[in-house]
Amino acid sequence: MNPFKIGNAPKTQEDWNALRFEAGQLFTPSSPIAEHDLFAGRGAQIRTLIEATEERGKHAVLYGEAGVGKTSLAKVYAELFPSTFRYLQSFRVQVDPSDDFSSVWRKVFKDIHVRVIREGSGNSESDTAALASFYEGQTISPDDVRRELDAIFKPAQIPIIVIDEFDKIRDPNAHTLMANTIKSLSDYGVNATIVLVGVAENISSLIGEHPSVMRCLEQVHMPRMNATERKEILDKRIPKLGMKLHQDALWKIVELSRGLPSYVHLLGLYSTQSAIERKSLLITETDVDNAISRVLLRLQESLSEKYHTATHSNRGDNLYQEVLLACALAESDDRGSFTPMSIAKQLTKILGREREMPTSAFQQHLIKFVSSGRGSVLTRTGRERAYRFRFTDPAMQPFVIMKGIESGRVGKDAISVLSFPAQGSLPI
Ligand SMILES: Nc1ncnc2c1ncn2[C@@H]1O[C@H](COP(=O)(O)OP(=O)(O)OP(=O)(O)O)[C@@H](O)[C@H]1O
Ligand SMILES: [Mg+2]
Repeated sequence: MNPFKIGNAPKTQEDWNALRFEAGQLFTPSSPIAEHDLFAGRGAQIRTLIEATEERGKHAVLYGEAGVGKTSLAKVYAELFPSTFRYLQSFRVQVDPSDDFSSVWRKVFKDIHVRVIREGSGNSESDTAALASFYEGQTISPDDVRRELDAIFKPAQIPIIVIDEFDKIRDPNAHTLMANTIKSLSDYGVNATIVLVGVAENISSLIGEHPSVMRCLEQVHMPRMNATERKEILDKRIPKLGMKLHQDALWKIVELSRGLPSYVHLLGLYSTQSAIERKSLLITETDVDNAISRVLLRLQESLSEKYHTATHSNRGDNLYQEVLLACALAESDDRGSFTPMSIAKQLTKILGREREMPTSAFQQHLIKFVSSGRGSVLTRTGRERAYRFRFTDPAMQPFVIMKGIESGRVGKDAISVLSFPAQGSLPI
């Protein structure tokens, strides 16, 4: 793919333009990964999904925060099977709010039908014809799905049916019907694997409470990416361009992204472009700083208003921006949630106080951030006295940090932590 090998630097403006184009192909901040050689990390989740697929009667639910990489994993995981699994066929449909149980399965069967026609892999012509008519018009029941899947595929074939964005479905019966479908496929030992994918904190919010179905469901939680996985996104791309990334630049991107791969892509892309504009093959920290400005500009439309709703005030001495920034910098777990104590630590630094701020100093701010009046920028979880908080829209978290950097609110020490991993790094 790369026309420029290391040591073979672009010479003409046309060469640099071509390199810029390649960078735009490798970094994909707004689309899921489709090829596994550009897919980073996620070993544990892949193993669990593979095990669920191998076991007859087992199905999976892949859930986590928005933007952590669920669709990418669902797209590439079928490619990652050991080559002995020759008969795997993966189908993926995306739910939209107007869908009900029947329309979701109509989409699935339409996809299967198209594939069967294209590949000529159906059992017989009559099966193919039945498949074509199956999705037209009528209501589909869990039993219909079980019978059709059993009939369409030969015993050696294992279809993987990924139903993405399942959290979007509004049909109140869809959860129970889907649970019944999974139970029925499992009870009859049909060799098909259903993978339900969606934004959710736990599996019951995605599919409801169905204790008898839980036994046949593998729960795969998709956490935020750890630092090694985020670094891998860059390592899999920048050398392909014949470029190098300075250590400080690398860690700044890794830390700023707060575990969200789309930010690694955005910052990676804009930093690369900034270096290319300087006609340099080495990406430096200054390029990342340029990238931050461009990211803020790009996200202006989608996030600035939310940010304003969360932090606006007529009083000059209010601390909304500072407290929200402290939340964004606070040490969080792999689901992005943090405690008031960890906010206090960051707020103390932001305000340059000598003594640590008590959590009571910003309790009211947190209550407001959770309320609809401030756009519910934060969500509260846990029990009283052990409350935790997280950004309702995870994408807001790196945005708030970058806003803080731009406005000079993130103190010098926080920035130096971002720049110098040897001195410690921002926790995630
Ligand atoms: N393993 C990975 N390696 C490299 N990039 C990744 C990986 N996983 C996700 N990404 C990138 O992260 C971004 C979000 O990925 P994806 O769309 O798969 O997330 P998602 O969890 O399905 O998001 P949503 O909740 O919005 O549907 C995309 O830009 C994608 O290219
Ligand atoms: Mg997705």
